[in-house]
Amino acid sequence: MESFSFFETEDKSTGLYSNVIGDIFHSRTGALKEANEKFINPIFENLKNKEKIKLLDICTGVGYNLKAFINKFIKKEMEIDCIDINDSFVKISPFLNDGIEDKSIKIFILNEVLNSNISLNDLNFKIKEYSDFDIEHFFDKDILNLMSFLLKSPYDLNQELKKDTFLHNIYYNYISSSNYEPNLSKLYLNKTIKYHFNDARIVLKNINTTYDVIFLDAFSPQKDPTLWTIDFLKQIYKLMNDNSILISYSRSTPFRSALVELNLFVGKTILDNVDIGTIASKNKNYILSPLSSFDLDLINTRSGITYKDSNLNLIASDIIKNRTFEQENSCRISQTMFLKNY
Ligand SMILES: C[S@@+](CC[C@H](N)C(=O)[O-])C[C@H]1O[C@@H](n2cnc3c(N)ncnc32)[C@H](O)[C@@H]1O
Repeated sequence: MESFSFFETEDKSTGLYSNVIGDIFHSRTGALKEANEKFINPIFENLKNKEKIKLLDICTGVGYNLKAFINKFIKKEMEIDCIDINDSFVKISPFLNDGIEDKSIKIFILNEVLNSNISLNDLNFKIKEYSDFDIEHFFDKDILNLMSFLLKSPYDLNQELKKDTFLHNIYYNYISSSNYEPNLSKLYLNKTIKYHFNDARIVLKNINTTYDVIFLDAFSPQKDPTLWTIDFLKQIYKLMNDNSILISYSRSTPFRSALVELNLFVGKTILDNVDIGTIASKNKNYILSPLSSFDLDLINTRSGITYKDSNLNLIASDIIKNRTFEQENSCRISQTMFLKNY
């Protein structure tokens, strides 16, 4: 069985479904749309005046949040760290039909992936694994052609790929002959992406900096709570300065409860009056829609008991089992009883 499958989402961007976890990577309403609505739009106001942004993208996958971020803040200087336990997704990221019109973003990502110990042959090999799928439909033909060209060409791929030559020559010679923009490469010379392919719990132990924005896009807490435990969130907390923003699509009570326990200001991201995710910061001014008294009371029920992983090494099923045991032995009111009395 393939470990994942592709599907077309409603905005025509390609989504992934994990056959192993039994969970979608991306919303059926649109993979790119979801990235914009849940991760990019809610942070835009707070970051629009910054010249340089440091981003930590936890669970990069095929990189929708990453691409949407670059697309939105294209003129800014960026320093980006990406983490995923599995490098397979990053290997297909530059080639997916992702709905991003600006193909230079995919070429920039291709360049950064090639600079992270992944060769063009690796990428080619990975794409061939999916030749059973409807490649034409789920992948970007132009970027696939570019890969074939690079594989055949004398282009010196052994030397570190220089962003200016790579982006500039490749983009205009092989992707677009129109809309000549002589300063294209300048947009990317001030941006770097560093990929970390390991369990985020291990990667974070070795990071010694803070970020302006942290994306948390792990699989849902009910399916895999590994990156939603209070102990992992404590690790994230250490990477936050007074103005950092943590953002996630998850609205789960144990997740929000852990953020509150860590003394972060916690709010909801709202779209059309609907609660679509969570935002947290040490800066109260960044939280436009704080959790309501209902949300805070819910946190005090059994459903607000956090997932725990004090040594940052438990498997998902043990984290779930331990929490269930703690809930069963808790004197807190159950969520059902709370909702009945409310
Ligand atoms: C919901 S998907 C992320 C989707 C992604 N942001 C995108 O735009 O495609 C979850 C990702 O988490 C990764 N993952 C799962 N467990 C992890 C862990 N312990 N550490 C780091 N990454 C993990 C998976 O490999 C998968 O790519």
